[in-house]
Amino acid sequence: MTGPARIRDLLVHAQQQLNDSDSARLDAEILLAFVMRVPRETFYAHPEDMVAADQICDYLSLVSRRASGYPVAYLTGQKEFWSTELTVNQHTLIPRPETECLVETSLELIPEQAGLDILDLGTGSGAIAIAIAKERPGSQVTAVDVVAESLTVAQANASRQRLSNIRFLQSDWFSDLPHAVFDIIVCNPPYVDTRYRGFTDGDIRFEPRIALDGGHLGLTIINHLVPASIRHLKPGGYLLLEHGYDQAPSIQHLFKLNNYRNIRTRCDYAGQERVSYACLS
Ligand SMILES: C[S@@+](CC[C@H](N)C(=O)[O-])C[C@H]1O[C@@H](n2cnc3c(N)ncnc32)[C@H](O)[C@@H]1O
Repeated sequence: MTGPARIRDLLVHAQQQLNDSDSARLDAEILLAFVMRVPRETFYAHPEDMVAADQICDYLSLVSRRASGYPVAYLTGQKEFWSTELTVNQHTLIPRPETECLVETSLELIPEQAGLDILDLGTGSGAIAIAIAKERPGSQVTAVDVVAESLTVAQANASRQRLSNIRFLQSDWFSDLPHAVFDIIVCNPPYVDTRYRGFTDGDIRFEPRIALDGGHLGLTIINHLVPASIRHLKPGGYLLLEHGYDQAPSIQHLFKLNNYRNIRTRCDYAGQERVSYACLS
């Protein structure tokens, strides 16, 4: 394509380039909106508007990277989560819509007026910590990750929201929090089976392996965190874990073995079992 082109024609062209993706049209629109610095909705009102040649050049280069599988969120450096635009980069997991189910479940356990101590283990872009800190300004959130670059992104995301009730800490799970105790521990851990083929040929190959690889059956880290959390929960405190669609029975069993009670599992918006949680006596 050379010279200026209409928005409508450009989107059709990009959609054809992206026909491997099941979200081709959406991806094409998000990338064009990013390059033109306009909201995507303007394309519906003004499909005949012309796009400048230099913008087309930038756009086609993004479309070609997307066609090779590179995630849209890494191309734009942005992802919306819990109605907040977050910066993401190749050091952070791209927050997923199903993780909003973990936030929702956590909020049900945190009364609006209460000042609870909450831990977000493996915070990544800060998605969960920021959502909870915004919704529960009276509570104090500690956000932990072992990856320093992730914490830099999470901190910047929190600053943009002007949140003063989050602190960030680099730690290998609980290792730098030896004596801290919390009312709520929330965690979206790496839970993908280490043998999953998508690590080599799926879109997730572009995301940090440390954020996704949960070892044998995807349960190695969860097997560590469920007993380890006991020393860090106040009496009556809750541990909430996101997990794979088929992992709830194993996690419920693990909770029972470790004397947790009120064990529950919640489905995500797609109807898959996604969050299990339980409390300590
Ligand atoms: C599935 S991602 C979740 C990211 C974010 N909470 C979200 O939901 O979008 C798991 C996170 O755990 C972090 N992580 C992996 N190993 C860790 C460890 N040993 N200690 C602390 N965090 C770790 C990864 O860096 C990653 O940010």
